[in-house]
Amino acid sequence: MNLDLQGIFDALLEGVVVLDDDGRVEFSNGEARRLLDTALEGSAGKHLADTLGPEHPLSRIVERVRQSGRPAIHDEVEFPRRLAMPLPVDVSISLLGDEPVGPGTARPLAVTFRDRSASRSLREEIRERERQESYGHIAAGIAHEVKNPLGGIRGAAELLSLDAKDERSKKSANLIVGEVDRISGLVDELMVFARGEELNLEGVNIHEPLDALLDLLELERGYGEIRVERTFDPSLPELLADGARLQQVFLNLARNAMQAMEETGGTLTLSTRMTLEHRVVGPDGRPRPTIEVVVADTGPGIPPDILDRLSTPFFTTKPRGTGLGLSVARHWIRQHGGRLRLDSFEGEGTRAAVDLPLAPTVLPTDAATRERT
Ligand SMILES: Nc1ncnc2c1ncn2[C@@H]1O[C@H](COP(=O)(O)OP(=O)(O)OP(=O)(O)O)[C@@H](O)[C@H]1O
Ligand SMILES: [Mg+2]
Repeated sequence: MNLDLQGIFDALLEGVVVLDDDGRVEFSNGEARRLLDTALEGSAGKHLADTLGPEHPLSRIVERVRQSGRPAIHDEVEFPRRLAMPLPVDVSISLLGDEPVGPGTARPLAVTFRDRSASRSLREEIRERERQESYGHIAAGIAHEVKNPLGGIRGAAELLSLDAKDERSKKSANLIVGEVDRISGLVDELMVFARGEELNLEGVNIHEPLDALLDLLELERGYGEIRVERTFDPSLPELLADGARLQQVFLNLARNAMQAMEETGGTLTLSTRMTLEHRVVGPDGRPRPTIEVVVADTGPGIPPDILDRLSTPFFTTKPRGTGLGLSVARHWIRQHGGRLRLDSFEGEGTRAAVDLPLAPTVLPTDAATRERT
C-alpha cells in the first residue's frame, strides 16, 4: 500500500501541528487548519506565535511547554474565531526526540487538539432539558397555589366594584380586577411548561408564518427606522409542524430583535435554508435534515454574562418585559424536536438560529403516556 502521510494526517479528526525545536511550524494537517480558522495556511517555517499571534491560547500553551520542558494537557481551551463563537478544543502537547527533558531544553513538539463543540452542545442540551422539566414542576406548583385564590380575589373585587359608592372605590376595585387578570395571564403563559400540550401537526410552508409575523409586527408598531431583509429559500420542503406555535416562536424572536433596535434603528433579517450539519438527531441517533430559520438584528447585542441566563423564565432587562419570550420559544422549538442557538456579539447584533427537523420526533414520554391510557 502506498501510504501518503500528509493524506493520512489530513483525514484525521484530530488537529496535528509539529513544531521544530525553535518553535517553527514544521507540519500541520487539515483539521488543525480548520480549528485554527485557516490561520496556519502558508505558515510552514514560521513561528507559531507569529502566525496565530502571541495572545492566542495555543501560542501561550506552547510557550509554557517550551519554557518548562514538560508536556501539557488542557481541556476545553477556547480558540477564538472570526465572526463566530469561540471553539472549545482539548489540547495536548508532547515533546519529540530523545534529549533529556527539563527546563531550557529545546525539543520539537507535537501539538494535537480536538474539537469539543459536539460534546459540549450535547451536555448543554441535557442541562437545558433538565431545566425545562424543572420549570414545568414550578409552573404546575404556582398554577395550583396561585390560580385558585386569584379566582376568588377577582370575584370579590368585581362585587366590590358593583357595590362601590364612590368613583374612587370603584376605580380601586377595577384596578384589582385588572391586575389579577395580568397575573392570571402570566400564570397561563407559564403553564405552557407544565402541560404537555399536544402539537397540532400539519404540513407547513415555513414562509407562511414568517410572512404573517412580518405583517403582524408592522401592525403592532410599524418598522420606522428598521429595515427588513427577507432571504427565503423558495425550494424548501414543507415541515410537519404546528404552524401557529411556530409563528409564536418566531414572533417572540423577532419582537426581541425589533426591541433591540428600537432606539438605533437597524436591519432585521429573516432567512431560511436547508441544512444537514446541525446536531438535531433522530431516534436512531443520526443527524436529520433540518430547516434553519435565522432571525438576526443589528442591535447592541447581549453581554456574555447574561447570555447564559436568557432562557430562564422571567429573566428580563426590559422595564416592561415579562421575560417569558425566549423560554416559551425554546419550549415550542423543543416540542418540535428542534433547537435554538443564540449568538451575540456586543455592538454588532444578535442572531437567533432555529433548527427544525422536517418532522418532529415522537418524544418517548408521549409514547409512554399513550401506552398507559
Ligand atoms: N435580540 C436581542 N438583542 C438584545 N437582547 C436580547 C435580544 N433578545 C433577547 N434579549 C435579552 O434577553 C432578555 C429576555 O428576553 P425574553 O424575550 O425572554 O424576555 P423579554 O423580551 O424581556 O420580555 P417578553 O416576555 O416581553 O418577551 C431580554 O430582556 C433582553 O435582555
Ligand atoms: Mg421578548
